Amino acid sequence: MYNEPMLKEGALENKVIVITGGGTGLGRAMGKYCVQLGAKLVITSRKIDVLQETATALEKETGGKVVTVACDVRKYDEVERMLKHTLNEFGRVDALINNAAGNFVMPTERLSHRAFDVVVDIVLKGTYNCSLAFGKYWIENNLPGNILNIVTTYALTGSGYVAPSAAAKGGVLALTRSLAAEWGRKNIRCNAIAPGPFPTEGAWSRLFPEEVQQYVDPLKRIPLGRYGNHQELANLSAYLLSDFSAYINGEVVVIDGGEWLHGAGQFTNLENIPQSLWDQLEKMRGK
Ligand code: HXC
Ligand code: NAP
Repeated sequence: MYNEPMLKEGALENKVIVITGGGTGLGRAMGKYCVQLGAKLVITSRKIDVLQETATALEKETGGKVVTVACDVRKYDEVERMLKHTLNEFGRVDALINNAAGNFVMPTERLSHRAFDVVVDIVLKGTYNCSLAFGKYWIENNLPGNILNIVTTYALTGSGYVAPSAAAKGGVLALTRSLAAEWGRKNIRCNAIAPGPFPTEGAWSRLFPEEVQQYVDPLKRIPLGRYGNHQELANLSAYLLSDFSAYINGEVVVIDGGEWLHGAGQFTNLENIPQSLWDQLEKMRGK
C-alpha cells in the first residue's frame, strides 16, 4: 500500500481551507495534510469540544494553525457566521470541503420522515448552504474559489438500506456539476470525491455495527482486497484543492479499489466458482 504524502512541500501555502465535519474521521485526515502542505485550516461541526481537541492535536503534530468554529451546516445563519469568523481570523478563504454527513443503515419503510429529514438536511442542505454562502462571498468580491464535495460511490448508483444518504449524495453530485458549469466562468471550481470504504469510527459504528458484520464483509466486494488508507484520500483531496488541478472542474473522482464496478459487473461474482469447476468446464469445452 502506498500511503506516503504526495504533493510537494508548500503546495497549499497560505491557502485558507474550511472543512465541515473536520473534527473527526476523513475530515480530520484531509485537514491534517492540508496544514502539512502549508494551508491555514478552519474545522467546523456541531461539537466544539471535539473540534478543539482535534485542533490542539493537529497544531502539535504539524506546527500549523487550526481554527475551530461551531456550526450546524443545516442552519444558514450559522453558516454565514462561520464564514465571517473565518474571514475575521484570516482575512480570506480559498477553499471549502463539504465533508459533514449523517447516515445510518435501515430498511427505508422503517424510517420516520424525520429520520429521512435529518440525513438529507445534513448532507444536501448542509452542502448547498455552505456552497451558497461561500460562492456569494467569492462572486461579490470577484475572488477565485474552490469547492470540494465528499460524496460516496452510491451517489452514482443509489443503494438500498441507505436511501436518505443516497438521495442526498446524488443531489450533491448534481449540485457539483451544476455549480462547476455555472461558476467556472467566475473562477470557482467545484469537484467531488466518491470514496469507497475508509474505516472511521463515525461510519463504521453506524453502517457496519457488530450485529451487521456477521452477515456482510465489505472487504469481499473490493477487488484490491483492502480498505482505503486515510492518507490516500488526503493526497487526492489536496491535489484537487491545489493549483496543480487548476483545469479540473465538475469532476467526480472515485477512490474505492474498484468496489462499485465490482458490484455492477454482471459476471464478476463468478470469482466464487472454485478452480476445480473451471478445470472441469475447460475440459468439457475441449471435447
Ligand atoms: C433509524 C434513526 C436512526 C437509526 C436516528 N434516527 N438514528 N432512524 N435508524 N439508526 C431517527 C430518529 O429516531 C429521529 O426520528 C431522527 O432520525 C432524528 O434523530 P436524532 O438522533 O434526533 O438526530 P441527530 O441528533 O441530529 O443525529 C443525526 C444522526 C447521527 C444522523 C442520526 O447519526 C449523527 O449525528 N451522525 C453524524 C455522523 C455520521 O452519521 N457519520 C457517518 C457518515 S458515514 P424520530 O421520528 O424518532 O424523531 C457515510 C459513509 C457512506 O456517510 C459510505 C460508507 C462506505
Ligand atoms: P464522521 O467522522 O462521522 O464525520 C462526519 C462529520 O460530520 C462529523 O465530524 C460530524 O461532527 C459532522 N456533522 C454531522 N452533522 C453535522 C451538522 N449538522 N453540521 C456540521 N457538521 C456535522 O464520518 P467519516 O467517515 O469521516 O465521513 C466523512 C465524509 O466522508 C462524509 O461525507 C461521508 O459521507 C464520506 N464518506 C465516508 C466513507 C467512509 O468509508 N468513511 C465512505 C464514503 C463517503 P459533529 O457531530 O461534531 O457535528
